[in-house]
Amino acid sequence: MTLKDLSLTALTEAAEGVIRPVGAFLLEQKVAQDQVETKSLNSLVSHVDKEAEARLVKGLSAVLPEAGFLAEEGTGSGDGHVRFRWVVDPLDGTTNLIHGLPVFCVSVALVDGDDPVIGVVYDPTRDECFTAFKGGGTRLNGQPVQCSGRVQLSDALVATGVPHWDFTRMEDYLAALTAFAKGTRGLRRMGSAAIDLAYVACGRFDIFFEYSLQPWDIAAGLLLVQESGGITCDFGGESEPQALLSGRETFAAAPGILDEGLSVIRNAFG
Ligand code: IPD
Ligand code: CA
Ligand code: CA
Repeated sequence: MTLKDLSLTALTEAAEGVIRPVGAFLLEQKVAQDQVETKSLNSLVSHVDKEAEARLVKGLSAVLPEAGFLAEEGTGSGDGHVRFRWVVDPLDGTTNLIHGLPVFCVSVALVDGDDPVIGVVYDPTRDECFTAFKGGGTRLNGQPVQCSGRVQLSDALVATGVPHWDFTRMEDYLAALTAFAKGTRGLRRMGSAAIDLAYVACGRFDIFFEYSLQPWDIAAGLLLVQESGGITCDFGGESEPQALLSGRETFAAAPGILDEGLSVIRNAFG
């Protein structure tokens, strides 16, 4: 099967049809303190994440039976050999949902090797569904969106994820935070990397940066940014797909802000 054999428009619509009801399911959930499991330091999970993943895997398997999975709660970890994989975060913003903070989403990408070809990020709280397929632009609830046209760092709104388990680059991170705090309109921490990237794609944020993410946090969001005219790269400015999908370093920006933003990151992270 080649990419040409796939109708990306139809697949994206079908994926959205699977994802929206899972988002609606998330919206109904409350997680009691004794239902929270800790996978590792500050990495939480509950029955909600697991049930959402099961529903997505069932639905997406029917959409494209040939595709494998790489999903946060464990589905498909042995599927590395297949060409097409669904990269799934059933609930991005788990800590927010557990604490009752209404900022979370479902994030699903279809990747061809390491290249995202479909991306869907659905925020059920605001009923906002961001979709993109390769070459087709980015849409929000069906309407085309673009990343911001801002051209000066001093006009930028910057999103980030604060380190909460990998503190090896904390000093560098704080240096970047200081420079952005002093040189922009401000900083935001949503608690969902997928929403951060979707917001870069639709021009709400001008920059997003975070280190030590995972493929399922960013696979869909990277494509949303790329298809909206934005730039995605690592902290050195490289955009090699495998390195980018690993989530080790994620930087996304509107093109007019790229150079100034990246120079802050390069200075801070050396
Ligand atoms: C988390 C969110 C958060 C980021 C974390 C991720 P989860 O994903 O994307 O914004 O800072 O590193 O782990 O655990 O809510 O799926
Ligand atoms: Ca996540
Ligand atoms: Ca998750």
